[in-house]
Amino acid sequence: MGTRFIKVAVIYFLIGTVWGLVMGATQHMEYMSAHAHINLLGWASLAIIGVIYRVFPQAGEAKLAKIQFWLHNIGLPLLVISMVLFANGDHGSGIPFAVLGGVLVIASVIVFTVNLFKRLS
Ligand code: HEM
Ligand code: HEM
Repeated sequence: MGTRFIKVAVIYFLIGTVWGLVMGATQHMEYMSAHAHINLLGWASLAIIGVIYRVFPQAGEAKLAKIQFWLHNIGLPLLVISMVLFANGDHGSGIPFAVLGGVLVIASVIVFTVNLFKRLS
């Protein structure tokens, strides 16, 4: 799974940097949180996870790595949608996306923690 994490990370990097450029150029700073999390939870976190799974293939090949991949990559887009909705002042719609996205991303981190503690010696 290491390679898949790294490949999806670079997609977030592309989206996150273009987002930053457009946001800065148009001075729409209300979208800064969405930008920050695409880059940090998308690019930075997923790239680090991918490298860890390449360094420790016994963890990267575990079923938990696959479960983590989907929890993170469903949760993060929902979290980003919530941040855009909050930025637009639509708190009513933002909250369910924030709760679901946040819970899925945290679940992904818990699965990652369990996987590393189980497989690394
Ligand atoms: C070409 C690439 C990028 C551009 C043009 C860009 C642009 C911006 C802009 C205009 C802001 C708002 C700054 C402000 O008003 O204080 C910002 C904030 C931020 N960016 Fe980027 N960014 C880029 C790449 C990245 C990357 C790669 C990361 C992380 C890995 C990142 C993380 C952040 C964070 C965390 C903030 C919020 C900072 C704060 O809370 O004050 N950005 N970015
Ligand atoms: C489930 C995971 C996470 C959730 C739900 C979350 C949520 C949030 C929220 C609600 C804010 C305040 C945004 C605002 O005031 O508009 C924030 C800010 C911030 N978070 Fe996170 N975060 C998460 C994970 C992370 C991670 C893993 C990183 C770094 C690797 C990070 C970096 C930041 C930074 C730099 C800021 C300040 C910049 C900004 O205003 O967006 N977050 N986060």
